[in-house]
Amino acid sequence: MKLLVTGGAGFIGSAVVRLAVARGHQVVNLDAMTYAACAANVASVAGSGLYAFEKADIRDRAALERIFAAHRPDAVMHLAAESHVDRSIDGPGDFIETNITGTYNMLEAARVYWTASGKPEGFRFHHISTDEVFGSLGAEGQFTEATPYDPRSPYSASKAASDHLVRAWHETYGLPVVLTNCSNNYGPYHFPEKLIPVVILNALHGREIPVYGKGENIRDWLYVEDHAEALLLVLEKGALGRSYNIGGENERRNIDLVRMICALLDEMQPKAGSYAEQIAFVTDRPGHDARYAIDPSRIREELGWRPSVTVEEGLRRTVRWYLDNEAWWRPLLERAELGQRLGAGDGAVKP
Ligand SMILES: NC(=O)c1ccc[n+]([C@@H]2O[C@H](COP(=O)([O-])OP(=O)(O)OC[C@H]3O[C@@H](n4cnc5c(N)ncnc54)[C@H](O)[C@@H]3O)[C@@H](O)[C@H]2O)c1
Repeated sequence: MKLLVTGGAGFIGSAVVRLAVARGHQVVNLDAMTYAACAANVASVAGSGLYAFEKADIRDRAALERIFAAHRPDAVMHLAAESHVDRSIDGPGDFIETNITGTYNMLEAARVYWTASGKPEGFRFHHISTDEVFGSLGAEGQFTEATPYDPRSPYSASKAASDHLVRAWHETYGLPVVLTNCSNNYGPYHFPEKLIPVVILNALHGREIPVYGKGENIRDWLYVEDHAEALLLVLEKGALGRSYNIGGENERRNIDLVRMICALLDEMQPKAGSYAEQIAFVTDRPGHDARYAIDPSRIREELGWRPSVTVEEGLRRTVRWYLDNEAWWRPLLERAELGQRLGAGDGAVKP
């Protein structure tokens, strides 16, 4: 199968690209290479005859039409997005343009191409979204695919809008779509402004480890390589027009997660005292959602998918990866945009 993957130089997109090439798929990676992208994320497949790269912005409709016509993909996996909640609070404009207008452009470019190709039945447009569209949970309950949308940040509102557009293009134009909404991902190649890499790297640098509020927010942690497997499964086996929630079945309070990482570092990179002594509680993010939890019954029962690792095992692999891959994260820490955020306390972490 030939896949057009958008955002394939980002965190999750690159995991999809690496896995798809390993499975023998042809992949065209379409990415604008924003601050969040990293060419090294796909270095392991860049020399493969199965891999092609197109530097393009999904806000540029003409570029998208050219790429569809040139590569003639069998399916699209749309991951390109502005993805950081804190940045959406600081400046929502890019989120509206990339996540909403960009998705509209992708849908239209796909529709033109699919129509001109005789509407092949096997074509798929897979839209990758977030559980944050469902809002915030109390102590009980989980998000199902039927949970009403209730986004509360500029980021989640822009993703919710993009989900609605994708469903509308299916209902109105018959575009063959599938959707997925996943929980918080973590793992190798996670950009160093998100919670888990911030914790690991601040700990290693002897800096404060910033935790929002009292660290009581709960997230359902999904190992990125498990997520990539689930995405390829939904693309190949998911029912048309259907959405699937993907979760790690690993709910943890942020403070417990941070303490687990500190304990792993104490074991793998011992120092005098514990890394946990560096934890500092910082002013909470405005509108900070209390709890996200995914009910993954549909993908488990219909497609037979389950996460392969517990959060304990996934975090162990992740901490090991950051300890072994300083050559990957060191240059990213030196990027100007990031230097102002990492370890800056307020606004530094994305739980
Ligand atoms: N990371 C998570 O925990 C998480 C959870 C749920 C859903 N998601 C969704 O998964 C997708 C991927 O997330 P991620 O964490 O890998 O994001 P990321 O920020 O690591 O990567 C996004 C990629 O998209 C590219 N991009 C951004 N704007 C673009 C534009 N206008 N044109 C072309 N490319 C552009 C960037 O260059 C980058 O390579 C996003 O749609 C996000 O909403 C992520």
